[in-house]
Amino acid sequence: MTLRARLANRPRIALILGSGLAPLESLVTVESRIAYADLDGFPAAGVSGHAGEVISGTLAGVPVCLLSGRAHFYETGNAAAMRPALEALRDAGIDTVIQTNAAGAVNPAMEPGDVMLIEDHINLAGANPLTGTLSDRRFVDMTNAYDPALGARLLDAAEALGIALHAGVYAWFAGPSFETPAEIRMARRLGADAVGMSTVPETILCRYLGLKVVAASVITNLGAGLGDTPLSHAQTQQAAPIGGAKLAAILQKAVPEM
Ligand code: HPA
Repeated sequence: MTLRARLANRPRIALILGSGLAPLESLVTVESRIAYADLDGFPAAGVSGHAGEVISGTLAGVPVCLLSGRAHFYETGNAAAMRPALEALRDAGIDTVIQTNAAGAVNPAMEPGDVMLIEDHINLAGANPLTGTLSDRRFVDMTNAYDPALGARLLDAAEALGIALHAGVYAWFAGPSFETPAEIRMARRLGADAVGMSTVPETILCRYLGLKVVAASVITNLGAGLGDTPLSHAQTQQAAPIGGAKLAAILQKAVPEM
């Protein structure tokens, strides 16, 4: 079944939930839930902590569809794993994709529980989801890939709420192993503020498909070597709800302005 045929309403905005951010689901007044397994092209649910479903409903009165769980490059080595799902969003009339993720801090000004607007990214994974795409549209302009006007909505909302929202550069590492301390030092020198294992391929695909992107990271840990807490997926999931609650409040206020 196509996504378009299954949605309860006609949303313009889709929200992709990152690891440990399932609590953001509570933002949405649910009209229907559709398992990825019932949707053409959607990924098989693979990552622990995600239901693998599309939730159709409203957020602060605005029709949205929420993707609980994404396919990651580290699951299969396919950077384009989310391409069919993003094409389905476009075909369903979505024009804006809000991405969320859990990330490690490399900027010493950030700590676990903080939230960061992604203003730009660095692709350190050595993969691109458009590899093999034939049309010349594959040469996507990545200037302002993260929509500055939509990002400003999030910053304005955060300020109005008195929530500190950092803004910075997200570096994509392939994973699934975490970075080494030397890689974290490298990422900092290259200009990254946060590191993670997602989001970047989806941003490239969205821009290819003509979808606007706004993205935010929830900081769950200090990058390897910067702190004492051992890194694990359990630690990520356990720490994500702290920043997740801040991000939820920001989105609740910002989405009606988008
Ligand atoms: N590195 C990569 N991905 C992550 C991290 C990290 O430190 N924390 C949460 N996701």
